[in-house]
Amino acid sequence: MARSFVVVVLFVSVLCFSSASARKISEKFYVEGKIYCDPCHFEFESRLSFPLSGVNVTLECINGKNNTMTYMKNSTTDANGLYRIPVRGDHQEDICVVVADSPNEGECKEVMPNKSDRIILTNNMGAASRARFVNPLGFMTQTIDSQCNIVVHELGLDNLDD
Ligand SMILES: *[C@@H]1O[C@H](CO)[C@@H](O)[C@H](O)[C@H]1NC(C)=O
Ligand SMILES: *[C@@H]1O[C@H](CO)[C@@H](O)[C@H](O)[C@H]1NC(C)=O
Ligand SMILES: *[C@@H]1O[C@H](CO)[C@@H](O)[C@H](O)[C@H]1NC(C)=O
Ligand SMILES: *[C@@H]1O[C@H](CO)[C@@H](O)[C@H](O)[C@H]1NC(C)=O
Repeated sequence: MARSFVVVVLFVSVLCFSSASARKISEKFYVEGKIYCDPCHFEFESRLSFPLSGVNVTLECINGKNNTMTYMKNSTTDANGLYRIPVRGDHQEDICVVVADSPNEGECKEVMPNKSDRIILTNNMGAASRARFVNPLGFMTQTIDSQCNIVVHELGLDNLDD
C-alpha cells in the first residue's frame, strides 16, 4: 500500500516535470503582417494601395547586449500580401524586427522604411495572445498614379500648407 503510494507520487511528479518542459520548448508566437504597394509616394496606406504577394520577409532577432543575431526566419507574402511566421522560444532579451526585401520584379520596388517597429516576443509582459501583429510595410511605385491627387484632396492633405 505505502509502496504503491510512493510510485504514484513519483509518477505524478515526473508528469509535472515533463509537461512543464514540453511547454517551454514548444512555446510559440506567430508574427503576422502585411506588405503593400503605395502608388502615391505617401509612405502610408491609402485606398489606392494594394497588397504585394511574393515578397520575402525576414524576422531577425538581435541580442541587445552583445549585438549578435539570435534568431532568424524567412517567409514570403501570400496573394493578399500577408505573412505569418511561427517563432520558437521566448525572446525577452532580444530586439526583433521584420525586414522586407525589395521585390525584384513588378512596378513596386522603391523602398520606404523596410524594417518594422520592434516586436515583443515574450509572454512575460502580460500579453496572453500568441499572435504579434507587425505594422504594415510598403514599397512605392516609381511613377505616381493619376488618381493620387484625388486622394490627397479627400484626406485634406492639400490644405496642409495654408
Ligand atoms: C550573446 O548573448 C547571448 C545571451 O546572453 C548568448 O547566448 C550568446 O552566446 C552571446 N553571443 C556572443 C557572441 O557572445
Ligand atoms: C533568409 O534569407 C536570407 C536572404 O534574404 C538568407 O541570407 C538567409 O540565409 C535565410 N535564412 C534562412 C534561415 O533561411
Ligand atoms: C532596406 O532599405 C535600405 C535603404 O532604405 C537598404 O539599404 C536595405 O538594403 C534594404 N533591405 C532590404 C532587405 O531590402
Ligand atoms: C525569395 O527568396 C527565395 C529563397 O531565398 C529566392 O529564391 C527568391 O528569389 C526570393 N524572391 C525575391 C522576390 O527576392
